[in-house]
Order: sequence, then structure tokens, then C-alpha cells
Amino acid sequence: MSIALRTVQLANFTRIKALSIPENRFYQVFAPLSNNPTAPAFQASLPCKIGKTGSSQSKMSQIPGLKLNDGNEIPMLGYGCGTARYKANPNAPLDQETVKTIVLGINSGYYHLDGAEVYGNEPELGQAIKESGLPREKFYITTKISGIKVQDTKQAFELSLKKLGLDYVDQYLIHAPFFAKGPEDLQAKWADMEAIHASGKAKTIGVSNFLKPDLEAVLKTAKVVPAINQIEYHPYLQHDGLVEFHNKHGIATSAYAPLTAVVKAKPGPLDGTYEKLAKKYGVTPGEIALRWVLDQGIVVLTTSSNEQRLKGFLKVSQFKLTSEEVEEISKIGKQKNFRGFWQDKFAADDWS
Ligand SMILES: NC(=O)c1ccc[n+]([C@@H]2O[C@H](COP(=O)([O-])OP(=O)(O)OC[C@H]3O[C@@H](n4cnc5c(N)ncnc54)[C@H](OP(=O)(O)O)[C@@H]3O)[C@@H](O)[C@H]2O)c1
Repeated sequence: MSIALRTVQLANFTRIKALSIPENRFYQVFAPLSNNPTAPAFQASLPCKIGKTGSSQSKMSQIPGLKLNDGNEIPMLGYGCGTARYKANPNAPLDQETVKTIVLGINSGYYHLDGAEVYGNEPELGQAIKESGLPREKFYITTKISGIKVQDTKQAFELSLKKLGLDYVDQYLIHAPFFAKGPEDLQAKWADMEAIHASGKAKTIGVSNFLKPDLEAVLKTAKVVPAINQIEYHPYLQHDGLVEFHNKHGIATSAYAPLTAVVKAKPGPLDGTYEKLAKKYGVTPGEIALRWVLDQGIVVLTTSSNEQRLKGFLKVSQFKLTSEEVEEISKIGKQKNFRGFWQDKFAADDWS
């Protein structure tokens, strides 16, 4: 049976039924609310094609996918291999605990796995993929080249592939712009990324922690527009016009540290609102925090070593916030500023 995909403008999502549902597959299509002035220029919301073939619908991932400007699809909820699973010495022997935790993530229904050279745990990520027993094509694997080290891009990429034990990644990102002394360095690095993309070994290329001036520099010479910018994004760090800039240029946004207001930045002005909405939807405040990101058409990356929490997070595909609730969280969130990562790179009052 052919799969009917919907091409729609993506912004806030309203759930609609999939047009055709092949057997043994659960597809979920999200359509946007129209008339949203901040709607991204890129198109489509898609059913997510991940899940164990032949398993029952209840065991399937119900995570929606987002179509990127290069035509590829990214699952909108990803499992982070950074932060808690960061390995300080990348040359240390394989850390079985990390492998176990990532396998737990996979078995809980997460197939979009976010890795990076600097997390030091690409071998553990690769091992977890192997131990899951699932075929490569079930996964959406991201890795990133260090954003602080000056190095040969192709060599770094090939080393990442080797450590992962893969012959391609779904997404390769420049982790941060901080290695660059000026726009020319960013432009040269992006040209390297384009060459990797052309080789077919990275299906999608993008950036992370780039601000407007960094993106403007890249766009001046880019042949391939970055598909995505992975940024710290939560109600206490909404960045000033950055997401709108992405939308205007067809660049998707991916949010890390989405639980900041619930976990790290408490107490805060949103505590009561999260509690109120969690009660209304029968979920946890963390799940409200994730949904706030998704309801803006933004990919969300979280992580946990707690199985119950991981399974709970999957509930985000079963409800959605109203546009008024999204707006309420955004408005209240602006009362507080909090940056959890890369603080040494920004002035204390810089929320760009
Ligand atoms: N590109 C970049 O520069 C960059 C930077 C940072 C992160 N990232 C990526 O984004 C991923 C997610 O980032 P993040 O870890 O900051 O995401 P997050 O989803 O905001 O936080 C996840 C952390 O919160 C904890 N947590 C969740 N619910 C909790 C609760 N109710 N009480 C206490 N603790 C709770 C989890 O611990 P438990 O294990 O106890 O659940 C986990 O350590 C990373 O793993 C990485 O892949 C990228």
C-alpha cells in the first residue's frame, strides 16, 4: 500500500488521521494551525517510519517526524547521548553502563539518537545500536564535529563513523561556531560539510549553537542551506528572533535542554503553570515542557536513565497544548532568563 504523505506548512500542530495506514505500522500525521505568522518556510509534517517491524501498534514509536529542507525526515523526539552520558576520556575502554543506558533508551522507543564527537561516547552509541539487534535503517543517528577545536573536517567525520561503526549518519552537525576566528572560518567549515553531504555519508547537514550572525555568514556562501540548528531552547531561553530567522530561511530548529525550567531552573515563574497544565492533561510537568517545544514545530532532545521517565515522555505524542497555552508558557517564560550550557561564551545579559 502506498503511503500518503501530507505536505503542509508546519507550525503549531493539530493532530489529524493518517491518510493511509499500512499494516503493522502506526502512522501519525500532524497538521499545523494556519495563519501563524512565525510558520517555518520548510514544509510538511510526516508520519514517523520508526518502530519494530511486526510489533504491535502499542509498542510502536508514535513520534511524529518533521520534513527538513533537504527532503529528509527527522523524528521530532530524540534521545540525547550527551550531558549525563558524557565521557571525559574518549580513549577510555568502552563504558558498559553508557551502552546499557542507551540500549534502555532504544528499548523504550527512542530511535533518534543524538551523539557528538565531544561526548566521547560514539563507540558506546555504536555498540548500543548493535546490541539493540535492530537494523540500521530503524535509527536516526546524529553526530557532531567539535565546535571548539580546529581540525580537518573530513578526517574528524571519518573517525566519528569509525567509532560509531557506521557507514553513514543521518545527520552531521557543526557542534558550535566557537572554533571560528571570523566568518571565513565558518564558511570554509560549511563548505567541508557540503562535501561530506555530497558524498552521501551524511544524509543531512546542519549546525548547532549558531546565532543569527553565524548563520548569516554561512548563508552568504552556502550551496546547501543548513537543514537544522540545534540550540538550547526552553521558556527561559527563547532567543531573540532566532527561531523566526530559522523559519524565514527554511532551517528547522532542534531544542536541547528542554526540561531546564522543570529540572535546573526551579524555582521559577512557570512552576505553577506547568503544574496546572500537567494536571489538566494527566501528565508530568516535564511532558508539558517537551510538548511546548513540539507545539512550535521544533524537534526536541531529551535524555534520561530512568525507564519510567523515558516511557512517560513518549506520552507527548498523545496530547497537544492549545495555542493559548503555548503562548501563556512563552509569555511567562520571558520573565526569567537562564542558560545552562556554554555560559562562558556569552555575556551574562546576552539572551540572543
Ligand atoms: N548541541 C549542544 O551543544 C548540546 C548541549 C547540551 C545537550 N545537547 C543534547 O541534548 C540532549 C538533552 O539535553 P539535556 O540533558 O540538557 O536535556 P533535558 O531533557 O533538559 O534534561 C535531561 C536531564 O534531566 C533529568 N531529569 C528529567 N526529569 C527529571 C526530574 N523530574 N527530576 C530530576 N531530573 C530530571 C534527567 O535525569 P534522569 O536520568 O534522572 O532522568 C536528565 O539528566 C543531550 O543529551 C545532548 O545529546 C546538545
